Amino acid sequence: MEKILVLDFGGQYNQLIARRVRDNRVYAEILPYTTDLETIRKNKYKGIIFTGGPNSVFDMSSPHYARDILDLGVPVLGICYGCQLIAWMEKGEVSTAPVSEYGKIELSAKPSPLFENVPEKSIVWMSHTDYISKAPEGYEVIASTPDCPCAAMANEKKNIYAVQFHPEVTHSEYGEQILYNFLYAVCGCKGDWVMDNFIENTIAKLREQIGDNNVVLGLSGGVDSSVAAGLLSRAVGKQLTCVFVDQGLMRKDEGDFVEKTFTTLFDMNFVRVNCGKEFLEKLRGVSDPEEKRRIIGTSFYNVFWDEIRKLGDMGYFAQGTIYPDCIESGKGDAAVIKTHHNRVKTPGDVKYLGIVEPLADLFKDEVRRVGEKLGIPKELVWRQPFPGPGLGVRIIGEVTKEKVKLLQEADAVLRDEMSKNGYERNLSQFFCVLPGVKSVGVMGDHRTYENLIIIRAVTTDDFMTADWARIPYDILATVSNRITNEVKGINRVVYDITSKPPATVEYE
Ligand code: XMP
Repeated sequence: MEKILVLDFGGQYNQLIARRVRDNRVYAEILPYTTDLETIRKNKYKGIIFTGGPNSVFDMSSPHYARDILDLGVPVLGICYGCQLIAWMEKGEVSTAPVSEYGKIELSAKPSPLFENVPEKSIVWMSHTDYISKAPEGYEVIASTPDCPCAAMANEKKNIYAVQFHPEVTHSEYGEQILYNFLYAVCGCKGDWVMDNFIENTIAKLREQIGDNNVVLGLSGGVDSSVAAGLLSRAVGKQLTCVFVDQGLMRKDEGDFVEKTFTTLFDMNFVRVNCGKEFLEKLRGVSDPEEKRRIIGTSFYNVFWDEIRKLGDMGYFAQGTIYPDCIESGKGDAAVIKTHHNRVKTPGDVKYLGIVEPLADLFKDEVRRVGEKLGIPKELVWRQPFPGPGLGVRIIGEVTKEKVKLLQEADAVLRDEMSKNGYERNLSQFFCVLPGVKSVGVMGDHRTYENLIIIRAVTTDDFMTADWARIPYDILATVSNRITNEVKGINRVVYDITSKPPATVEYE
């Protein structure tokens, strides 16, 4: 299989580079700049990409690499810091740029294999304070910007290319084409990588890592842990135990669906812990949102770890961590941006052999593609985000068994109508909320005094901000009719037309 090495010098976009390479049907793997040359030579890469990084090449404590890497006969592309590093290794000059460039800049490119099908003028994304002030001998300057006289350089004979800008980010208009050119015109790749290869390779790696040991995975029913469970089951079958804690606050029939999927489609030990009653007991009389969240969160982990302790030798501990969870926790040499809590902390008394994270290199949409290939049902693969505290934060005030049931029924109607009308994948999130408000209504000739249901539906790219979804009135009318007719105890349905900010997506 053709492979590209992304040599990590601590940039923020390293995984994105690997992902763009994979999008071009060429497998890419990321290794730290501390990887020795012999390992790189043995791996017979079709090409090597030096990533960006936050440092200056003339600071000797910053990441460097032995110059011999440029004599392997393997094509190299340096990006940003990687570009300056090549200039420095080849005895060109790198210095602090008189004008730092940040953002979209116009690039003027000369004809080069790297710029095939790229117009002479195009927009690229720049983010640098140093620049190449003199290209090394044997290198031709192949692009410039108004403030960066050497925005790209090439030694065509040695197949070494370097670009100061970031072709991997979408703001670089022809970035995709430039990476494509590097892979196909410079490295001579054929493009033989598909998701099936990822699955095969990952299964082989998991078998090697886990050996004859056991492995335990906490399955939430969300996309990431479901796909991780699928891969692990294919790799080690019954050595895998999935622990699924059903706190009774999932959507209608969701717990049964998760259990059925993983016990019928996959080979594994599946432990379902039903603790809905205990959770409701703990939530009795509690209406403060933060207190509810705290109780649900703490109880969840207590139940989960108690179950793990019961298993005895847990072997490895698997997690459905995906790439965005890693970068935000500060992986490799990348500067820490914010601490993320998707990675579960283990209590001190729980001993395990190591952590297994089969999806740590993938983005969400890649995870979904793996899930589809593994035959995981679309309801799980395309599942919308669902808060850890479940329906507990969609019932305002005290949570009771009756309220959970009422909300589950109304929500099931909404989901059914959304699915029928093709909105399931087009909207980022939609759900019902039970605000605990009653109002007067009329049914037949009778006065009613029943519950109100709120429909919340949003579109968003990142959930930091969100817009309320413009669902057609006719669909809303059907949902309202069906909920008030089919769900006993609800006589009024309202639609939330507030964006985030000022509101949040969830209600508590
Ligand atoms: P908010 O309400 O903050 O929600 O606008 C943004 C996104 O986060 C989800 N959410 C959670 N997800 N645990 C989670 O795993 C939580 O406690 C939690 N609270 C909110 C929410 O559903 C939306 O997608």
